[in-house]
Amino acid sequence: MSDTQIRLRPISGSLGAIIEGVDLREPLDDQAYAEIKQALLDNLVIFFRDQDITPDQQIDFGKRFGDLHIHPFIPNLEGHPEIIRLYAETGTKEMLRLANSWHEDLSYTDDPPLAAILRGVQVPLRGGDTMWVNLYKAYDTLSDKMKAIVEDLSAWHDVTKTYRRQELQRKGGAEQYWGTFQKTPPTLHPIVKTHPETGKKLLYLSELTTTHIEGLNEHESDALLQMLFRHMDWKELHCRFYWEPNSIAMWDNRCTAHYAVRDYTEPREMHRVTVLGENFR
Ligand SMILES: [Fe+2]
Repeated sequence: MSDTQIRLRPISGSLGAIIEGVDLREPLDDQAYAEIKQALLDNLVIFFRDQDITPDQQIDFGKRFGDLHIHPFIPNLEGHPEIIRLYAETGTKEMLRLANSWHEDLSYTDDPPLAAILRGVQVPLRGGDTMWVNLYKAYDTLSDKMKAIVEDLSAWHDVTKTYRRQELQRKGGAEQYWGTFQKTPPTLHPIVKTHPETGKKLLYLSELTTTHIEGLNEHESDALLQMLFRHMDWKELHCRFYWEPNSIAMWDNRCTAHYAVRDYTEPREMHRVTVLGENFR
């Protein structure tokens, strides 16, 4: 085997590394693919700078890692159903909800995807960073007694948790809520999962969509979830990425949760492809 092609520059003590030495306009050869996949497993989220790629090139890159997911309700980029377009005119004006809360993408489905690849198309000059949390470390840093408590518990993930009362009260709001509920009904995931590739245990919760813990009464569930969400919010478990146009972030969606910081006042457009994995329950 020849010398390694990529260079890695970690960005925090817990997770995240910038990859240098790759041009994603070119098809990945097998060695580059293997090195990037390993970098993803080791660092949980990897970043690329200055990748001026087309939507098709982003799709081709994603397809090296698995089949791509078509999102059930987020709008696609025209002509490219595999790419979802995330656009916000400003982060601060719109209702504070959705991505600015810790979550794994699509944890409210039975088979959450393996990875997501997000490209910055139009990014604000300041603000709009994304943060990730290392869910292995979130599990490892629980006390042994707490690990024993959560070990056999499962929690419900429900995307309709993101609806606010004022949206429900709007004309058509209840119908929209019910439509979303039917399209993606709540699903149960173990709180402690084992990563299928690394074999490591992790804490699997989404502050955005986890509603309650199965088998506990309401007070018990609320208190335990608040404590665990607070634990996930421990800064030492995080990394934070500053976007430039043509920056790319690729995260392992099984062992990280992320948080899109809505502190920007300019338009922000991101394109995401989502890679499916083996069943991860
Ligand atoms: Fe997300």
